This record gives sequence, C-alpha cells and structure tokens, in this order.
Amino acid sequence: MSRAAQRLGGSAARAVGAGSGVIAGAEPRYGNDATPVPATGPSDGGALDRLADEVLGGIRERGTYRRMRVLEGVQAPRMTVDGRDVLLFAGSNYLDLARHPEVVAAAERGTRQWGCAAGGSRLITGNLACHEALEAELAAFFGREAALAFNTGYMANVGVIPALVGPGDVLVSDALNHASIIDGARLARCDVEVFAHGDVDAFGQTLAAARARARRVLVAVDGVYSMDGDVAPVAEIVRRAREVDAIVLLDDAHGTGCLGARGRGTAEQAGVLGEVDVLMGTLGKSLGSFGAFVVGSSRLRELLVNTARSFIFSCALAPAQVEAARAALRLVDAEPWRRARLAANCDRLRARLADAGLSTAPSTTHILPLVLGDNARTMAVCEALLERGFYAQGIRHPSVPQGTARLRITPMATHEPHEIDALADALVGLVGDPAPSGD
Ligand SMILES: Cc1ncc(COP(=O)(O)O)c(C=O)c1O
Repeated sequence: MSRAAQRLGGSAARAVGAGSGVIAGAEPRYGNDATPVPATGPSDGGALDRLADEVLGGIRERGTYRRMRVLEGVQAPRMTVDGRDVLLFAGSNYLDLARHPEVVAAAERGTRQWGCAAGGSRLITGNLACHEALEAELAAFFGREAALAFNTGYMANVGVIPALVGPGDVLVSDALNHASIIDGARLARCDVEVFAHGDVDAFGQTLAAARARARRVLVAVDGVYSMDGDVAPVAEIVRRAREVDAIVLLDDAHGTGCLGARGRGTAEQAGVLGEVDVLMGTLGKSLGSFGAFVVGSSRLRELLVNTARSFIFSCALAPAQVEAARAALRLVDAEPWRRARLAANCDRLRARLADAGLSTAPSTTHILPLVLGDNARTMAVCEALLERGFYAQGIRHPSVPQGTARLRITPMATHEPHEIDALADALVGLVGDPAPSGD
C-alpha cells in the first residue's frame, strides 16, 4: 500500500485504491510513491464499509470515480503532478499571482503582524483591522459602497442565497449554475425555476412566471461558466430583472480580475458594474489567495453580517490570505499586462485548435472546454496528455451534464507562446487519434 493510502488508513485507503485507474490495466499510483495500490480490498462488513462499497460501486460503474492528484512545487505554469514534471493547464490561478513576490511578501507580513489565525468568527474575536481594510479596498475596487469577505465562494453562495430568499420565494437560476448556487437554494428552501442556459428569452419567460407568483424573486447566474467558459448575458439579465424588481446575484468567481477593461469582471465587461445587486467574487482563483467576497450596498453588507449563517458561524479568513488578497488586488491595477497576456494565450490556443478542426465552443474566455463526450475516452486522453507533459483535467458528470465529458483547459497569463503551441500540437495529435494510448 502506498504511503498516501496508508495515511488514509483502513477502509478509506481501500476505497481510494479500488478502481481508480482510468486506463485499463494501469496500476494507480499516488504521489512519488512507486508502490501500486491494490485494486480491491476486503471489507470488514461494517455499516460504513457497506455504505462506501455500495456508493463507490455505483460511481465506478458510471465511470465517474475520482481521485486526487498530488501536485508539488509553487503554483506556476510548470509543476510536478503525480511525480511528472508538466505544464499546468488545469488551475484557476489564471493571472499567476499566487507566487507573485508582492503577494507572497504580503502573506508573510500579514502572518508576522497578525499571526497565523484570525482566532474566531468575525462577530466575536475574528474581525481584525486587516479584514476591514480588505473589504474597504474591495468596495473601492468595484466602485460600490461596501464589501464583505467570506471564506470561500461556495460559502458565500450558501450564505447569501438563504439570506435573500426563503420558502415561498423563487430563485430564477441558469441551468448550468455552479453547485454552490444550487446548494444555497436547497438551504434557503425557496422554489427554484431553472431557465435554459444563457437563453435570454427563456430567462424572460421564467422571470415573468416567477414574478407573477412570488413575493420575492432572486435571479442568480454565473458570470463565466466554469466548465464551458462562456459568459452570461449579464446586461440583459440585469435590465430585465430591474423591470420586475427582482434581485440579481452575479457569481463572478472566474471573471474577477480577468475580464473587463480594468479586471472588474463580467459586470464591467457588460457595462453594468454599478447595477448588480449582489456581486460575488473569489480570492482563491485569479487573485491568487483564498476566500471570497460579496460587494454591493452598505445595506446588503449589514443584512449579510446579521443573517448569512456561513459568515456568522465560521472562523474568519486567516490574515496571510487577507493580506495576500489585498496585494493581488493592487496588482490587478498595476500589472494589466497579465490580463492582456491571458487573453492572448487563450486566443492563440483557440485559434490553433480551430485550425485543426477542434472546437472549444462556447468559450469566449480563459476557460476552454474540449468536449469529447465519453467518460473513459476523456480520462484516457487526460492521462495520455500527462504522459506527454501537459496537465488539463478531464471533467465528467456530475460536474458537467452526462455525455459531455471534456478536457477543461485553462491557460495562464505567463505561459509562453511556444508552450501554448506545444499543448495545441499534443491535443491535435491525441484527439485526432481514435484510441489514445492506454484507452
Ligand atoms: C462559478 C463558481 N462559483 C463558486 C465557486 C466556489 O468558489 P470557491 O472555490 O472559492 O469555493 C466556484 C469554484 O470553482 C465556481 O466555479
């Protein structure tokens, strides 16, 4: 048993090992440990083992078993993945700020000044001056009255949505919205009306029906769809929502820092930055730190401080992350070349693949899907790509609809053009091949 599997211990280790090889005949290995993990292990028959066997068995049958790869090295365009030195096209550190000297120095300073932990929830002992400073800077960055930090984007959505709607209210939701919006609606126990992805007419009809029957209507959309890389029709959504007095929540986890002339994201690009009621963004993707935030009115902040349970009942962000995020925010303004190079790299890859007849539609952004459809084939291509020195993660159901498994390719601002070309060549070679190595 590998050291990684041993650390998990007992049945968990067996569950991780069982069936996790995505290429038929290959032994799954973890980290740099060369010891193969046994493909199956005996169960001791307890209730937990029976549950795990049943659930994991179903997952394996559907071809959606997941395991975690082990990465080593500083977050950068080149990293070690499962012991292989590869070019990374799978992360969300789009602007390559996570290792920026100013961001790292800010995290170090933050730790020295404030310690390693906030030491409590914001409403008890965890509200440090650095949290308040970050929020003031976020509000200024977006030109809005106020901001409130959350520990992750997931926690922001599951906190904000129940703060805005409840039983009898309606959430109008795009069909491809992120899981955290769906889970937020579950916690809110509101009704959910789903409209066809990105379809403005379907949105209008769903909104009108919701308005006709509900006291309060919340519209929630992702800014950039995390598995497709297309952008929501934000201007039209805001306009129509305003007409019927519905609240708009824009989850711009992937747009923040990257889109818009000044990196303010999807709403800036759509010309409605000041009009989105609740703008959520993350600190852990293009901003190279960790956490999330909501910006909007002072009244919104006051409401969330008093009612958003994921804010109230959770320890505050660590000072290192807060200070890193503050530095990253300054760099979005100070180094606009990162945004420009990210867009140029993505355009280059899109064009190279299109020349070879490979579509990355509907993406117009820095998230490029290459839809292959079949789960096994997608994961085999992912592995074959790794063998050639590139990491772009294969994505399967439930992260994407059944039958639309894909490689999710995310170039960074600091990839060199020849690295983009090398990835394109590898993809064209592999995806043109009906049976990539190991399939
Ligand atoms: C659209 C969207 N919203 C929210 C989140 C959650 O953000 P976090 O990773 O900070 O929890 C993600 C994560 O990838 C996302 O893609």
